[in-house]
Amino acid sequence: PGPGLDAALALIADVPDFPEPGILFKDITPLLGDHVALTAVIDALAAAGRDAEGRPVVDKVLGMESRGFILGAPVALALGVGFVPVRKAGKLPRATYAVSYSLEYAEATLEIHQDALAPGDRVLLVDDVLATGGTAKATMELVAECGATVHGIAMLMELSFLPGRDSLGDADLTTLLTV
Ligand code: PRP
Ligand code: MG
Repeated sequence: PGPGLDAALALIADVPDFPEPGILFKDITPLLGDHVALTAVIDALAAAGRDAEGRPVVDKVLGMESRGFILGAPVALALGVGFVPVRKAGKLPRATYAVSYSLEYAEATLEIHQDALAPGDRVLLVDDVLATGGTAKATMELVAECGATVHGIAMLMELSFLPGRDSLGDADLTTLLTV
C-alpha cells in the first residue's frame, strides 16, 4: 500500500442514512471517477492474482454482479486473463450452476455458466465489499461446482463489524481497507 493507494481509498465517501436510516453507505463512485485512483486500486487488487515475482497465477477473474463487474473486468485485463461474470438469478442465457443463500430478509441466487471455467482453472474473485460474506461464499461454491479452484479473493473493503472473513474458511482474502 503506497501513498497512491491511500489517496485513492480516501476518495471513498461516507453517506449517512443510505439506503435506510442508520446505515452508513460507503460510496466508491468518487474513486471510480478518478483515473489515477482507479488505476491504483485495480493494480492493488490484481496483485492478489500474482506470485512474488509479479507473474499472473490465475486463469480467470470472476466478478460478482453488480459492483464486482466494475472492478473485476479491469483486474482481468491487468492480469492478462479473461473475465467471468457471476450473475444474479435469471440473467445468464445458457446452462448454469446456481447457488442460493440467505440475505437478512430474503433469499438470493447467484449463477455461473457451466462452461465458464475449465476443471482445474485457478480463479481470483473480485468484489467491492465483504459484509456477511454470503456473496463470496456462494461464489466459492459455484467455482467448486465447475471443478475449478479459488486462488484468492480480492475486495476493496471489508466491514469489521460483520463476520465475513470468518465465513470464508481458509480462503486467501485480500482487502485494501477495513471500515
Ligand atoms: C453488495 C456488495 C457485495 C455484497 C456484500 O452487493 O456489492 O457484493 O453486497 O455483502 P455480503 O458479504 O453480505 O454478501 P449487492 O448485492 O447489495 O448489490 P450490487 O448489485 O450493487 O453489487
Ligand atoms: Mg455486490
